[in-house]
Amino acid sequence: MTFSCINTAHPSPRSPRLLRLHQSDARAIRIELAAGLLASASSIAPKFLYDALGSRLFAAITELPEYYPTRTEAAIFRTHQNAIAAAMGKGCTLVDLGAGNCEKAASLFDALRPTRYVAIDISADYLADALDYLQFRHPALDLLGIGMDFSTAFNLPDEAGVDACVVFYPGSSIGNFTPQAAEVFLRQVRLAAKGGGLLIGVDLNKPSEILEPAYDDTLGVTAAFNRNMLTVANQLLGANFEVADFRHVAYFNRVESRIEMHLEALRDVSICWPDAAAVSSQVSTQESVRQFRAGERIHTENSYKYTPESFAALMRRAGYTRITKWTDADEWFGVFWADG
Ligand code: AVI
Repeated sequence: MTFSCINTAHPSPRSPRLLRLHQSDARAIRIELAAGLLASASSIAPKFLYDALGSRLFAAITELPEYYPTRTEAAIFRTHQNAIAAAMGKGCTLVDLGAGNCEKAASLFDALRPTRYVAIDISADYLADALDYLQFRHPALDLLGIGMDFSTAFNLPDEAGVDACVVFYPGSSIGNFTPQAAEVFLRQVRLAAKGGGLLIGVDLNKPSEILEPAYDDTLGVTAAFNRNMLTVANQLLGANFEVADFRHVAYFNRVESRIEMHLEALRDVSICWPDAAAVSSQVSTQESVRQFRAGERIHTENSYKYTPESFAALMRRAGYTRITKWTDADEWFGVFWADG
């Protein structure tokens, strides 16, 4: 992990600061990918969906007619922004988790009037451009970008501020954690907010006829998003996946209350890559091999769906006591605010 602060000599009256707390470790990534592929129930972690192309494909998914979460959440924020602002109080430090282009949080600035905005994303480079633009539009706002990976543990560095803050976690990204991991994560968020609050968007349970097309659209964008992972594995691991040998599978597992995404082998294939030890010692003879039989699957993502009650119960288990929620008329999506 590295720690540095850049662009402090910016000429404008205020300029966004940027902390880089994440440095990718190529060897650890290879070991993680290899372990997932070699397991009897093969898997690739969902974070590998988001290389540069995958991030663009995800942005395209959010525009699809079948993918209702993004626009439903935006409509809830639009409809209830005054009530949300009243619950939160004005003038907070807003900490945006997985901020990306910062647009979702920025659309709430007029209602929430934060004094400080802290954008956190794994890609500090992506944040840099977004924050420069935001500073231009909001010259008086104190802006900080932090490049960090909060998927395994979350705590805020001192630079984020010592006072209470509001954590903003939209988009139902919490659904990509298991409920157990979500509880641990939400507890860490509660402690990091130092008595502040959490504003979080959560996708809600609904019939499979609505859920499944959202993850298997007719244009095949989600299929491309999922299959792109094989290209990512080829790049990061040096594997020899042929994208055409795998098809996208997505279905709602009602027992677990989650959408599951998989990549299914269309024929028997033999996937090989150089061992991590061989890569680091520049010896090219050691290889790992994983055979996939036709029909065998690689599990790539879970997206858990909650009822309003089950998510409020999860928040209570994480230590929150005062919880308010807003939903759309169909209860397809929920926005939860908790400040105690
Ligand atoms: C980022 N996350 C909330 C999305 C979801 O709906 O679980 C990722 C996604 N996967 C396929 N489509 C969208």
